[in-house]
Amino acid sequence: MRIGETRQFRRDPLEYIDNLRCRSTTGVFRLPWGGYCVRDTDLAQTLLRSPEYNSGRSGFFGDLLPTRRAQVEVGHAVRNVLRAGEPQYRAVLTRAVAELPAVSRWPAAGNELVYRCLTDLLLHPGITPARTRRLMRQAVHGGAGGVVFHAPHAWQRARAEVLRARLLAAVTEQVRHRREHGVGEPRDVLDAVLDACATDEVTDRTAAELHLMMFRAIVVPLSSSLAWSVLLACLHHTSDSPWPWPAGQVVREALRYRPMPWLLGRTIPHPVEFGGVAFRPGDLLSASPYLMHQEKGRWTDPDAFRPERWDEPGEHGSYVPFGAGPFACAGAAVAQTLLAESLTALTRDARLTVTGGDTRPVMAEGNVPRPFTLHRTELDTEGR
Ligand code: HEM
Repeated sequence: MRIGETRQFRRDPLEYIDNLRCRSTTGVFRLPWGGYCVRDTDLAQTLLRSPEYNSGRSGFFGDLLPTRRAQVEVGHAVRNVLRAGEPQYRAVLTRAVAELPAVSRWPAAGNELVYRCLTDLLLHPGITPARTRRLMRQAVHGGAGGVVFHAPHAWQRARAEVLRARLLAAVTEQVRHRREHGVGEPRDVLDAVLDACATDEVTDRTAAELHLMMFRAIVVPLSSSLAWSVLLACLHHTSDSPWPWPAGQVVREALRYRPMPWLLGRTIPHPVEFGGVAFRPGDLLSASPYLMHQEKGRWTDPDAFRPERWDEPGEHGSYVPFGAGPFACAGAAVAQTLLAESLTALTRDARLTVTGGDTRPVMAEGNVPRPFTLHRTELDTEGR
């Protein structure tokens, strides 16, 4: 990328990719950091849904699991543990929101809120040594973070590597212990991973890596999607009255307007012409949920944040915040429930306002909101 382009990208990555799309004359356009992106929504749907580009193992798990079947089983097992843990999430959430300061800095405070509600579901306190849970906590917060959430500076990332190695060693030890003693009904995400890969092909170390991968895949998009929901609703509803939308609609619209996963990549398996460009095996082609959610003609006022659109029939274009097709997110439904619950808890008997908010994202592990301050004012019994 040239210096001017890097500057534009930093200023607003979404505007930047939209400009690339507008300038392109073919069905796909080249990305300056390598690979291509699909311009047209129908072609993007083909890329995400067609068996031609979505057979074999999904890239989401890398090489951690030997078969597609094992990938699906891990996804379903983890989703089931989270679903069963919804009442527990809700109970911790009530306490966490009650203890949230009246003024908090986001997205950091949202990251902490989501992590706190999930911590016992990630590694159950009754069966995990306190030291391992402390390391997991440091992986989220540890000084400047970096193991779970993206750290902006190289020195933070170097420190995170040390912490990551310590966490993996501790969880590997825990895997060994649990495998020796047998895993019954899964009590946390680690149990779910072990239950789904009860095979010698998955070593103790690989199981620990899978746990860390799922830990990130759960906590990171939930946290940033919650932060977007809070920010966008506050920026678009500035009066003193309660928000006019149900929490679920705000979440859906925030996931449309600022989908956290910004490019979904597929590796081209064989020579093919796609969108007017000839691809070779191994080329990377991506669909952009953001561009698909912005397509004029399929959405009314796509560049407006309008949660009420989800009440209007015939309003919807392609909606893919959780991907689509064979490799779509295994946790989509549970993620939407947890987000709506979190937003409901934050707004219950309270008025939310923000200062310093900006709808332009920064690119970290995906589309993440820039820092903003949330003011949460408790309302009296008459709602004032
Ligand atoms: C707001 C929260 C979330 C968002 C926005 C999100 C988004 C996504 C997206 C876009 C994909 C597809 C990637 C692709 O097509 O290449 C994906 C895959 C996946 N997600 Fe999520 N996700 C969220 C939460 C969760 C949760 C809570 C779980 C827990 C079960 C989860 C588990 C998975 C798994 C297992 C896959 C891989 C599916 C496969 O390849 O079989 N996600 N997620």
